[in-house]
Amino acid sequence: MLQRSNIVSPEEELQDFYEELRAQHVTPAWISGGVGVEPKSKAVPYVWHWRDLRPQAMRAAQLVGTEQAERRVLRLHNPELAGSSASNTLVANIQIVMPGEIARAHRHSPSALRFIIEGRGGYTVVNGARIPMFPGDLVLTPNWTWHDHANDTDAPMIWLDGLDTPLVRMLEAGFYEQYGEEAQPVGEGSDPSLMKYGVGGLRPAWEPAPTARYSPLWHYPLSQARAALERLAAEGAGSPFDGVIMEYTNPVTGGPAMPTIACYIQLLQPGEHTQAHRQVCCTNYHVIEGSGYSLVGGRQLDWEDKDVFTVPTWTFHEHVNTGDRPALLFSFTDAPVMKALDLYREEAKGK
Ligand SMILES: [Fe+2]
Repeated sequence: MLQRSNIVSPEEELQDFYEELRAQHVTPAWISGGVGVEPKSKAVPYVWHWRDLRPQAMRAAQLVGTEQAERRVLRLHNPELAGSSASNTLVANIQIVMPGEIARAHRHSPSALRFIIEGRGGYTVVNGARIPMFPGDLVLTPNWTWHDHANDTDAPMIWLDGLDTPLVRMLEAGFYEQYGEEAQPVGEGSDPSLMKYGVGGLRPAWEPAPTARYSPLWHYPLSQARAALERLAAEGAGSPFDGVIMEYTNPVTGGPAMPTIACYIQLLQPGEHTQAHRQVCCTNYHVIEGSGYSLVGGRQLDWEDKDVFTVPTWTFHEHVNTGDRPALLFSFTDAPVMKALDLYREEAKGK
């Protein structure tokens, strides 16, 4: 009869054996832990308040120039993660560009998004396309696209940066290149990606459909997103877990904005308290406007306008709008990575 074997060895002999293995750079798997029964993130739920972040961004702008700093960026780092990132695979940073300043052109294999918090009318150039930046707008600078930023206004431009750098670093797939000039030449047309791809269901027929896996639309204005959310909210539509939530999609494929990062915007009605669920993806949130709190893995994260908070993977979370106006939340997750690798799951609490 076949059965599991029951060999018992003296502890001393085992330790000698393990010591020998260690010297040979070999590890016995039976004493070194494997996959848990479910994901347990090292990251913890955490909120960064705008009232703390903004003065420090302004201080950074006084102390450090954009000659010294390739990008004047404050990284929000999760208290329990070794690296300086808000979540396991995705950073959430605050970047500030002062009046008259540029952040010179470069490109990298990590994908990036910009969500504008403050300032009206500075711009980002992506592969020669000039994209104006207004509060609440989402701007993409996808994988390996040239990008530089400029502030030609008389007020600071501040935005949230989201990048997949921790993931790309873990995969040892990072490339970076400096552009030959400080800034890219700006091509023709005003906001060309929005002109070509910013109307749902229509694309320029004189050009072949773009084949890049990232979205050819690089500018998603808040005005369009807000109008869509308000129309659906007025009809009582939405999810019990997230209220009226919409994904910023690649208009050609219907898929996520970028292969590694999915972006969402959601509206929570005054008094709305969503049901708890959890997903195999980490999520960073930015409060566009509104006030309330989220219960995340047993912690209460109080938030108001412009705060940033993080929900680690496989952590139950529910949102509560305690204000008297609709709350708008922007969020970005690594769900596309999980889905591409068949690792994605979601679960409602109590199910
Ligand atoms: Fe960059």
